[in-house]
Amino acid sequence: MSLIQKAKENHQLSSSEIVKLLSSDQHNEELFSAAHEVRVKYSGEEVHLKGLLEFSNLCKQHCFYCGLRAENRQLKRYKLSPIEVLDFAQKAISYGYHTIVMQSGENESYRLEELCEMISSIRQMGASVTLSLGEKRYEEYEAYKRAGADRYLLRIETTDSRLYAKLHPKMSHSNRFQCLRWLQEIGFETGSGSLIGLPHQSLDSIANDLLFFQESDFDMVGIGPFIPNPETPLANSKGGDFILARKVMALLRLLMPYINIPATTAMETLHPLGRTLALESGANVVMPVITEGEYRALYKLYPGKVCINDTPAHCRHCITSKITALGQPISSSRGDSRRFIIRQQA
Ligand code: 5AD
Repeated sequence: MSLIQKAKENHQLSSSEIVKLLSSDQHNEELFSAAHEVRVKYSGEEVHLKGLLEFSNLCKQHCFYCGLRAENRQLKRYKLSPIEVLDFAQKAISYGYHTIVMQSGENESYRLEELCEMISSIRQMGASVTLSLGEKRYEEYEAYKRAGADRYLLRIETTDSRLYAKLHPKMSHSNRFQCLRWLQEIGFETGSGSLIGLPHQSLDSIANDLLFFQESDFDMVGIGPFIPNPETPLANSKGGDFILARKVMALLRLLMPYINIPATTAMETLHPLGRTLALESGANVVMPVITEGEYRALYKLYPGKVCINDTPAHCRHCITSKITALGQPISSSRGDSRRFIIRQQA
């Protein structure tokens, strides 16, 4: 039996088996269709749409790849008022979103009470709330949970500690791992993920990322290609490869059949059909941006971000037609991962 067939059955691969599959493009189509089959069998045919509310691009961190890094003085910074946040959330809910993903750079410009009020107000509008706010204190995570937040996304970015240290000056890899453990302990539906194609990132290190996600039993994992940003120290790097990112995502699906996997915007930036292809090789979630006006362009992690001139209403319509053209229905549920539902029932 081929490695791919074996993984399709038992959801296990060793590090060297992963590296072997990543090293050759010979079996890519088999890998992509196996990932799609596993996704449909265990996580269903439905696609969850989640509205991404990029509510502030202020950031105190220094990540070498990211356009929001504190040192980037070229970027015009913004911070939405709580009223604007609730207004965008309300509109998104009226377009049919069941989850609002509140994402921002890492900053302390909102008071804890203010954040908690936004969380509980959005919850009261009937949507579930996912947060993506970076590394916080245990007590803050607890407060978000008490306010009604359901999920939290914190990518580890890379599990390779040497590589992490090079790309994240003044940050602590062990604290990031700690934050992920806290989030799980507090009971969030927890998501992580990594960047593919970082400078000096080896296939071994990518294999370790995948095994880390599996071992940690996350509920959601996002895989995105690294896209060099001219306003960062990695301006002249080569950047990630779409096919490699798609393969890593497909392998992730073989290893973790029940989790939610987004078809990332970064994939769409590298390939005009990026999200569509991702939805045909393991992904089951799409997160269109629901902020309006100039904010869409100002949340500039990397250049070439898609749909910056569109309205949220247009995006919702456009993505729905793309997904239904694939024969995949749009989910009308809360959008919890099957993994999380199973865990809750246990
Ligand atoms: N290319 C691709 N993804 C990026 N991110 C940040 N900068 C880049 C980039 N240049 C991703 C990080 C972060 C997420 C919000 O955006 O993985 O966790």
